[in-house]
Amino acid sequence: MAAPVTKDQELELTVDSLAYGGNGVARLNGFVVFVRRGLPGDTVRARVTKVQRRHAEALVTEVLEPGSQRVEAPCAHYPACGGCRFQDLAYEAQIAAKHGQVEDALRRIGRIAAPPLEPIVGAENVFHYRNKLEYSFTQLEDGPTLGFHKAGRWDEVLEIERCWLTTELGNAIRNTVREWARGERLVAYDQADQTGYLRHLVVREGRNTGQALVQLVTASGEKYDTGHFVDVLRAFPEVRSIHWAENASPAEVTNLPTRLLWGEEAIEEQLCGLRFRVRPNAFLQTNTGMAERLYGVAREFAALTGQETVYDLYCGIGTIGLTLAREALTVWGIDVSEESIACALENADLNEIANAAFFAGNVGQSLEELHERSGDPDVVIVDPPRAGLAGKALRRLGEIGAPRIVYVSCNPTTLASDVKTLRAEYGYDLLRARPVDMFPHTPHVETVALLERNPV
Ligand SMILES: C[S@@+](CC[C@H](N)C(=O)[O-])C[C@H]1O[C@@H](n2cnc3c(N)ncnc32)[C@H](O)[C@@H]1O
Repeated sequence: MAAPVTKDQELELTVDSLAYGGNGVARLNGFVVFVRRGLPGDTVRARVTKVQRRHAEALVTEVLEPGSQRVEAPCAHYPACGGCRFQDLAYEAQIAAKHGQVEDALRRIGRIAAPPLEPIVGAENVFHYRNKLEYSFTQLEDGPTLGFHKAGRWDEVLEIERCWLTTELGNAIRNTVREWARGERLVAYDQADQTGYLRHLVVREGRNTGQALVQLVTASGEKYDTGHFVDVLRAFPEVRSIHWAENASPAEVTNLPTRLLWGEEAIEEQLCGLRFRVRPNAFLQTNTGMAERLYGVAREFAALTGQETVYDLYCGIGTIGLTLAREALTVWGIDVSEESIACALENADLNEIANAAFFAGNVGQSLEELHERSGDPDVVIVDPPRAGLAGKALRRLGEIGAPRIVYVSCNPTTLASDVKTLRAEYGYDLLRARPVDMFPHTPHVETVALLERNPV
C-alpha cells in the first residue's frame, strides 16, 4: 500500500509521544509520522521531509496549539543550537518519555512482554551538568568565534555566548579563547574549502575537584604564540592542563594526539570517593554527579560480597571497576583506548587498589585471552558504546557464561537487541532494568540492566 502522504505536503498533526532519538510521534489514520520539533500534546502544522513505506518524517513549521507540558526554554540560543532538543518540554515529561522509550525497546526489540523496568533515576541538576564540551570555531565578518553546530546542520556553527549545559567557568573559558583568537587575528578553519586554521576547543572540568583541562585543535602548523595562549588561560586558576592538537585531515575530530603546552598532563576528578586522573583523550562520563548515581545502580545490581572475580568490559579509565574493587576479589578491565588504560592503571595506583588489572584491547578479540588468564568471572560489567556489543564480543560473552551480567547501556535499542540474543541463545534472564537520565534536554538515556543465567 502506498504511503498516504507526499514529500513537501503540509499536514496538521497531533503529537502523541516522543520516539527514541527525540522526534515526536503522530499518526495520520494509523500511518506514523515522526515530527521533528513536535512535543507530546502539541497540535502542529508540519512539512513532510521524507516518505517511506511504513512511516514519514516531517518538520514543524508552526505550533498551532502547544501541549500542556511545554515550558519556556531559558537558553537564548534555543532552539537554533543543536545541543539541546527539549528545553521547552517540562523535565517530568522528558523523563517519562525516556522511561517509555526504554520500555518500548525492551518490548518491541527485546521481545520481553513485561520488562522488569524500575523507575527512572531523574537528574539532580537539569542545567550546568556537563563536565566536557567540544566547541567548533567558525568565521564571522568581525573575526573567528566559537559555538555548536546548528540544529540539523553539520555545515553551520552557531556562536554561543552562554551555554546552559556548562558552568560559568566553562562559559568564561570559551569566551576568553574567542577574544584571544580575535585579538591574534587568527582565522577559523572552513570545512567546505579546507582553509583557515582554528578548528575546535575542548574544555573539561573535574566537577568535584575544580580542575580544568583545555585543548585547542588547529589545522597543521604553529601559527600562534603558544606562550601567549597559555598566559591568557592561566588567568583562570582552575586551568591546570593546556594541550594543543593539530588535525591535518578534513575529518572533524578532536580525539587526536596532543602536545602539552603547560601544566599537568592530566586533571583529576573524584567519583564515588576515589580519585581519577583524566587525560585529554580518555573517556569520562560527561555528567559527574549522575555518573555516581549510575555506578550506584550498577553496584547494587552487581551485589558483590568480596569473593567475586569481576570483568569490567569497556572500562574506560577504570571508573566502574575501581569503585567495585573494594567489594570484589579481583577486577579485570579491558578498553580499546590505550590512553584510557594508561589512566586506569594510574588510577588503580593513585587509589592504592591492588586487586584490579587493566588491558588495552578490543573486547571481541581480547575476551578469550582474558578468560584464559583470569579464570571464570562471577560478574561481568559491560558498558559498550552506542552500537552495543559487536557480534564477536556478544558471542564471547555468551560463551563465557558468567552467572551475572550487569549491562550499562547508553542506547536502549542496542541494549534490547543484545538482551534478546543473551536470552534466546545463552540462557540469560533479564531480572532488573533501571533507566538513568544523565543528559536532560537531550534524547539520550542510560539504562542499567541485570541479567542472570539460568542454571543448566
Ligand atoms: C560508554 S564508554 C564507558 C567507559 C567506562 N565504563 C565509564 O563508565 O567511564 C565506552 C568505552 O568503550 C571503549 N570501547 C569502544 N569500543 C571498544 C571495543 N571494541 N573494545 C573495547 N573497548 C571499546 C571506549 O574507548 C570507551 O572507553
